[in-house]
Amino acid sequence: AIQRTFSIIKPDATKRNLTGKIISKFEDAGLRIVASKRIQMTREQAEGFYAVHKERPFFGELVDFMISGPVVVQVLEGEDAIAKNREVMGATNPENADAGTIRKEFALSVGENSVHGSDAPETAAEEIKFFFSDDEIVG
Ligand code: CMP
Repeated sequence: AIQRTFSIIKPDATKRNLTGKIISKFEDAGLRIVASKRIQMTREQAEGFYAVHKERPFFGELVDFMISGPVVVQVLEGEDAIAKNREVMGATNPENADAGTIRKEFALSVGENSVHGSDAPETAAEEIKFFFSDDEIVG
């Protein structure tokens, strides 16, 4: 089925000028960019977005990293978009990512791993709503 998923191009990638190369990977996989904006996340936004991880030992580091520079938040649309995006991203830890994936090619570490993508339909819907209003998404 056609789905929408939420993506973040993280500060390690925007700082190294990799935005276009990452978007090409999405488009080459058949995902359409139906919403996109470059933003500087506030600490409050980053803490809210990652609230599910707030008891994890890396939470502080994660929030500091996500506000360390600009990010590009996007809505990707396509057939099985959630799974397809996860395939294109590769494993969370770049050491475990398959050849040709975004994280294998570009990620620096498990924290500075270049991209975030939703893991399920419910989280995709929540994450899209966190950053986009309906009129900002043009399919
Ligand atoms: P993301 O998909 O954005 O969701 C949570 C993030 O936490 C994850 O990607 C990783 O970048 C980050 N993360 C997971 N494990 C660690 C870790 N051990 N140290 C730092 N960051 C981590």
